[in-house]
Amino acid sequence: MADRHKEGIKSKYTVDRQMPGAFEGETVNRRRFMTAVTHSAGGIAAMAFTLPALGFAIGPIFSREPWSWQTIGTPADFSDDTYATKVITIVQGIGEAGNSIAYVRTRNPAIDTEPEDQYNHWVALSSRCMHLGCPVRYVPAAERFICPCHGGVYDFRGLVAGGPPVRPLDRFFTRLSNGYVQIGPRYSVNDQLHRFSPRDPAQPLNGVGQYLYPARFDTNALPKG
Ligand code: FES
Repeated sequence: MADRHKEGIKSKYTVDRQMPGAFEGETVNRRRFMTAVTHSAGGIAAMAFTLPALGFAIGPIFSREPWSWQTIGTPADFSDDTYATKVITIVQGIGEAGNSIAYVRTRNPAIDTEPEDQYNHWVALSSRCMHLGCPVRYVPAAERFICPCHGGVYDFRGLVAGGPPVRPLDRFFTRLSNGYVQIGPRYSVNDQLHRFSPRDPAQPLNGVGQYLYPARFDTNALPKG
């Protein structure tokens, strides 16, 4: 072995490489082995702490809101000059705690200038304030939605008219099925009422806002069927 070392052949044995603390037949000395074990254990411990936290932080980005079409009435139940209040289920499987209010009216082409398609013949607004999520209330006399928490005000179309909300009220897809009006998944809108995947309150969607906040991956694709 000593000859091989003299000849410049790199040996795998620690003795040949004249490493301190080397024993005959070892390819890794104990000090180096223990160092590697310690580093590995440290890495595993660090991952045990950071991975759950990371998953908790970015998990909502990938979450999908389960939804189904819910029947809320017939076309005759709705008019284009005021809102009907409908109780809908937004979180399934948790009973009444998963219910919410949607304000629904017939589309009025005179004021609803966003492009018409098969999913917005009825305008269905979420009652969740886009400041911090308090429930808003529609006041017919004022044709406004009022938030009791911090004075947020939305106009008849759900656009912000005053106060701290950062974007218009969210909306729901609607459709006509077998003579009944049905309400589908929620989506968010910016000030031009362009559709975006559902966002949380306090996440603006105008300008760079749409890039600063993570979209959930159920995106704003139109529902099928
Ligand atoms: S939660 Fe509605 S204005 Fe603050």
